[in-house]
Amino acid sequence: MTHEELTRLLDKLDLDQKVRLLTGTTNWRTADEPAVGLRGMTMSDGPAGVRGPTWDETDTSLLLPCASAIGAMWDDDLVGELGSVLAAEARRKGVDVVLAPTLNLHRSPLGGRHFECFSEDPELTGRTGAALVRGIQAHGVAATAKHYVANDSETDRLTVDVKVDERTLREVYLAPFEAAVRAGVWLVMSGYNRVDGVPLTESPLLARPLKDEWHFDGVVVSDWGAVRSTEASARAAQDLVMPGPAGPWGDALVRAVEDGRVPSAVVDDKAGRLLRLADRVGALHRPTTLPTPPRQEARALLRRAVAAGSVLLGNRGVLPLDPATLTSVAVIGAHAAEPRVQGGGSAAVHPHRVTTPLDALRADLAGTARVVHAPGPALTAPPPLSAPACRDPHTGRGGVRLRVLDGDGRELYAGHHRTGRRLEPPLPPGARTVEISALLHPGTGGEWTFGVGGFGRMTLTVDGHPVVDGVFPCVSDDPAVVHVNPPCHYGTARLTAGRPVLVLARRELADGTGRATLVTAAPPRPDPAAAIREAAEAARTAEVALVFVGTTPHSESEGRDRTTLALPGHQDALVRAVTAANPRTVVVVNSGAPVEMPWRADAAAVLLTWLPGQEAGSGLADVLFGRTEPGGRLPTTWGTCLADTPVTTTRPEEGVLRYGEGLHIGHRAWLRAGRRPAYWFGHGLGYTTWAYRAAAVSAPAQGGVRTVSVRVRNTGRRRGREVVQVYLARPASAVERPYRWLAGYAAVEAAPGETATAVVRIPDRALRHWSTEERGWRTEPGGYEVHVGPSAGELPLTASVEVPAEGSPRAAGERLPRG
Ligand code: BGC
Repeated sequence: MTHEELTRLLDKLDLDQKVRLLTGTTNWRTADEPAVGLRGMTMSDGPAGVRGPTWDETDTSLLLPCASAIGAMWDDDLVGELGSVLAAEARRKGVDVVLAPTLNLHRSPLGGRHFECFSEDPELTGRTGAALVRGIQAHGVAATAKHYVANDSETDRLTVDVKVDERTLREVYLAPFEAAVRAGVWLVMSGYNRVDGVPLTESPLLARPLKDEWHFDGVVVSDWGAVRSTEASARAAQDLVMPGPAGPWGDALVRAVEDGRVPSAVVDDKAGRLLRLADRVGALHRPTTLPTPPRQEARALLRRAVAAGSVLLGNRGVLPLDPATLTSVAVIGAHAAEPRVQGGGSAAVHPHRVTTPLDALRADLAGTARVVHAPGPALTAPPPLSAPACRDPHTGRGGVRLRVLDGDGRELYAGHHRTGRRLEPPLPPGARTVEISALLHPGTGGEWTFGVGGFGRMTLTVDGHPVVDGVFPCVSDDPAVVHVNPPCHYGTARLTAGRPVLVLARRELADGTGRATLVTAAPPRPDPAAAIREAAEAARTAEVALVFVGTTPHSESEGRDRTTLALPGHQDALVRAVTAANPRTVVVVNSGAPVEMPWRADAAAVLLTWLPGQEAGSGLADVLFGRTEPGGRLPTTWGTCLADTPVTTTRPEEGVLRYGEGLHIGHRAWLRAGRRPAYWFGHGLGYTTWAYRAAAVSAPAQGGVRTVSVRVRNTGRRRGREVVQVYLARPASAVERPYRWLAGYAAVEAAPGETATAVVRIPDRALRHWSTEERGWRTEPGGYEVHVGPSAGELPLTASVEVPAEGSPRAAGERLPRG
């Protein structure tokens, strides 16, 4: 629709009707308005899959690799294709707005939502985010750039006040959002946090630069529950309050407009933007029809994506494995059979299916090699009750019985469910108690651990004996804690193998504490030392050992930051024992963020698969057996240890988190500090090798874009893809600069012996800095060094760019490798 047509629609609405549009009507839906033919729009998380408006395991979703894996792809086309998968999933589930991508940065490796963000680098984040936005929106589904802005860690996330200087904000933290707006994103989500003392939902940053300077014409939606004021947020450029129906706008905003405290033009602008969004997603007229791709095809893409995001950090010739000659493999570690495929919190979905590494390896080696699995020490917190160990006591089906009772114990709802993790139990009027029960058939005897999660009064009995009984006050108003990950309280009971027991848990509901209820059970844990010995023995007698390590849902999740980069549990000891037992040990790291790997020099290969999504196993097997090259390059510097890492703070002091390091985060900070990380930003090996031959910089074309043409030769024995990276430096700058900064990248493919030319676009902006005095972008005249290579720490080619004081800049010529 044209602007005029939308204005005519808006003119049909009175103040009440317009304000009604500006707060959601449910957790996930916006208001309808029959007077203008508007239907409500449905929103859904999130970054790795589209959950849809329910949290139910029967409503499954295609699960993509997590965002840090997507950041590792350095491949706009593939990222765009993944965006199309999200769009198709959204359409299938009746979703209009996908709450992704997350464009915050890996400022500190301790950041709890690292897995949900692409990179530490603003250029890589901006490009990847823009590609995903275009991929989603090409199909008439809206994307949401979140969380605007400087929302890069989780500690006290609802209140933290980030102090960041204007230049850093512009060049580092706002830059990816600017790229998303340039890509045409339809929504931006304002964060929970504050910048310079002002909550983002009231911040002047929503007007400038977002709307006034970048000309963002979409909707600013709040993070869930982030709007806490009427006038201040309404007068700011905040457009939509989510969730609803309660909220601080509604009637209070109508009165504020009637009293002249909020100009009516402000409401018109917000409602107009909402109508424009509705028009874009087809909520003002016929729904847009988009064919849903067959799942098989999407699954093949997700499998390809696992390999494309996996980063081979080191390889002493052990990979790829040859399945034709392999006779025995020891598959070690809990993550082999139970991989972490996604991060915790609002991004989580119920995956359509999960291929595990263990199953994929067994399938590939069936009939040709012996595959032995040794899980090593137990790792995770007790899992929710579920089949096959648990049965619904009423129907006998695998799973649990859920009942909702009123104050007199009368049943208001009863139903069968697959697991004891019920985030949204039904709430009929008068509901007072949520009850979950199951008949547990213990395969192992001994001391079992039971847990019940939620808030308020909770009890758990085993065959009538109390195991947990207490009142557990709600300690947080963070939705990620209250509605997604309520804390569990544990007790133990001694069970006899093969003798079923009735587990029954009750939670009394109370105002403001949510309703998510969780019941868990875990058998006695094997002795860790014995489990490590068993794993080492399996490794010693196998030709190759594959050891899987990683984070746990507890150690890496929305709503909290990590306090250590060490692998949880006894995993370091497990790897050391396995590498000592077998020199041909490949360590597969399954985490969304950096972990310390003190054993890395002892491993024959280290492969990082991130949180790879539902095709975890099949995609990994492709890489291990060389059917596909590991395509990933680190989107974030992998430090040796936390103590060495230059920027780590996530804990506010007296409510304030200072980004005192300014422009210098990630690889820039490591270079500035003169420290060597374990693996540099940009690093990643394929299955061939490359020689960097020459780099030449072009004169700037229209719009100031230069190109750097880089000739690289495939010096190995198989076809491969190389990600050529270009960094700039300006040691003699009059303004403070990063030691070096990423300016652009491009990938090439070549056959053995072939030379290919990567053409890397260097936008004008890459040479600019934000001048706080002049409040604008400026280009310093003079020379800029151009460094080219396969990572931020390995840059064999140099060239230069000379920007004259006046007139158009000119490029220096081709340079040969240093040394
Ligand atoms: C998260 C958002 C998410 C929203 C809705 C919030 O707690 O920070 O990223 O989109 O919940 O689930």
